[in-house]
Amino acid sequence: MDIRVSDDEATAAERTAVDRVYSVTHRSSHTSIGGVASMLERRPLLLDGLWALQEASGAITRGGLNYLCIRLGVPPAEAYGVASAYSLFSFDEPVETVTHVCDDIACRASQGHDPAGGWQPTAQARTVWHRSPCLGHCEFGTAAMVQTSGEHASRHTVAPCINENMLTCAADGGRGPALSHQPLSELRLLRRIGRIDPDSLQAYTGVGGWRALRAAVSMGPERVVEEIRTAKLLGRGGAAFPTASKWDAVRSNTVHPHYLVCNADESEPGTFKDRILMEDDPFAIVEAMTIAGFATGSQRGYLYVRGEYPEAEARMRNAIRTAGEAGFLGPNVIGSGFQFDIEVRRGAGAYIAGEETALFNSIEGKRPEPRNKPPFPTQSGLFGKPTAANNVETLVNALDIMTDGGEAYGRVGTEQSTGTRLFCVSGRVTRPGLYELPMGARLLDLLALAGSPESGEIRAVLLGGAAGVFVSPHDLDIELSFEGARAAGVTLGSGVVIVFGMETDFSSVVRRIAAFFRDESCGQCVPCRVGTVRQEEMLTRLMEGSPIESLQPELATYRELSLAMKDASICGLGQTATSAIESALRLGLVPNVAVGP
Ligand SMILES: Cc1cc2nc3c(=O)[nH]c(=O)nc-3n(C[C@H](O)[C@H](O)[C@H](O)COP(=O)(O)O)c2cc1C
Ligand code: SF4
Ligand code: FES
Repeated sequence: MDIRVSDDEATAAERTAVDRVYSVTHRSSHTSIGGVASMLERRPLLLDGLWALQEASGAITRGGLNYLCIRLGVPPAEAYGVASAYSLFSFDEPVETVTHVCDDIACRASQGHDPAGGWQPTAQARTVWHRSPCLGHCEFGTAAMVQTSGEHASRHTVAPCINENMLTCAADGGRGPALSHQPLSELRLLRRIGRIDPDSLQAYTGVGGWRALRAAVSMGPERVVEEIRTAKLLGRGGAAFPTASKWDAVRSNTVHPHYLVCNADESEPGTFKDRILMEDDPFAIVEAMTIAGFATGSQRGYLYVRGEYPEAEARMRNAIRTAGEAGFLGPNVIGSGFQFDIEVRRGAGAYIAGEETALFNSIEGKRPEPRNKPPFPTQSGLFGKPTAANNVETLVNALDIMTDGGEAYGRVGTEQSTGTRLFCVSGRVTRPGLYELPMGARLLDLLALAGSPESGEIRAVLLGGAAGVFVSPHDLDIELSFEGARAAGVTLGSGVVIVFGMETDFSSVVRRIAAFFRDESCGQCVPCRVGTVRQEEMLTRLMEGSPIESLQPELATYRELSLAMKDASICGLGQTATSAIESALRLGLVPNVAVGP
């Protein structure tokens, strides 16, 4: 790709697609095009513009990119730099249909997993398939996302992606078979899942929807934050940060405007909880975001949803639109005088975009690369303004805190970890799916609920996903709370629990984890960019029985590498990229490598 605007022309379809993005956003209250600041103001349209091109032509063509760059005033080299950071954008020969077939660890742990289900797309013209990292449908054991371009561009999920489903779906370009979830236990967060029509505002209102928002508005922002503090709500996105501190820091910041960001990027392999919340209870997320906006003094919220979740995105867009029409969003939320709107931004296949500051960059139309902290997002976040970024599950907890009060909420769970937690259970269990348990429940009980085999048939359980830790079948009596996980030397991360049976080929699993981090590292800092490559190389040498010198020096070098990555990487990706593999080595799961504890 050239670094200057070339002579390549956009097709009529590409021009129309780009113009549509430009004119829709031009009408939005946030972006005013024209004037000196217009180039900066147009930059946040880049991600949507790239999606428009990808969907129009099946690839980002030179002509299309030229047109987009001229329209937005963005140098082509920069736009190319942004587009190339996302795996759902292609620069190859345009194709009509691309099928992304999950090849990741939870699907590998399921019995009989066969990437692409033996499906061969040779019969269809202009069709290709790629192996994909986790698509967030791990409870089905196999999953695919079909992305079509042209006049009727679409994305849809096929799960389970068995041969029969793939053929139907790929041939007619229609929606795949309906997804059916496993029975879900119900407590707080999952109370409405499967009970009401997720597209109906009336249905949501009928089960007590918007009571929490009314309660929040009558309390006022300070008390909302106080109730969240009393509840001791900790973030569910992985870092367990106190939500009240975050909201308070934004609320009291004198710099304006303030922003709220709902992080629905959910790309940690094995995680699918936020998808289910968005697909089956979208109004709850709209209500929770509005409460967070009210508490933090934000007039605008962004929902950043991963590009691999087309059904969740559609549900959320519908909920935002209908809630706005009914006065639950907009210039005068429920007649309170509070103004709040939500914009949806679609990711495009980059795990690192889930890191909150990388996510801000992504929304701003820059490469999704994490920023150095400090400054923290509450000081300088999205567009350099005070920003509260929260995970979907974290936000949904705010609803019960508003209606029942922080004290009542805090009675569930443990002293340090209050409330309930969602767990995404997959792999060698008979009832994979999403489970909600009070904090402090035991891992063994969760496994029993999910139909795990006897411990004699389990080779290991992975907690926390690719950035997590493998646990031996002899150490499964773990308390599922933040402090319980810390005491056991594991992490709950985003609630991933993958059960691996005795038949598991761990050489393929650990290689997949190493390849995942190598692929997903944004490359910005050396310890991670180089370290993830070296980790994969060392692992290969170790498994092939050909270490440099001998086993012990190679392992010592690996430990040093891991330490350097933990200490010197800018963000959590590099800091956790060796964690699962180190634990696999400790447990003797890696073929040809026996390591002491
Ligand atoms: C590599 C990486 C990926 C992440 N992905 C996500 C994600 O997909 N969803 C999420 O909520 N948090 C993710 N996080 C954590 C966010 O940076 C941030 O801590 C979180 O969104 C804050 O929300 P919470 O306080 O409600 O947990 C990720 C962090 C890292 C380092
Ligand atoms: S640790 Fe890795 S992913 Fe994070 S900023 Fe550095 S290179 Fe990028
Ligand atoms: S969908 Fe395959 S690992 Fe998650």
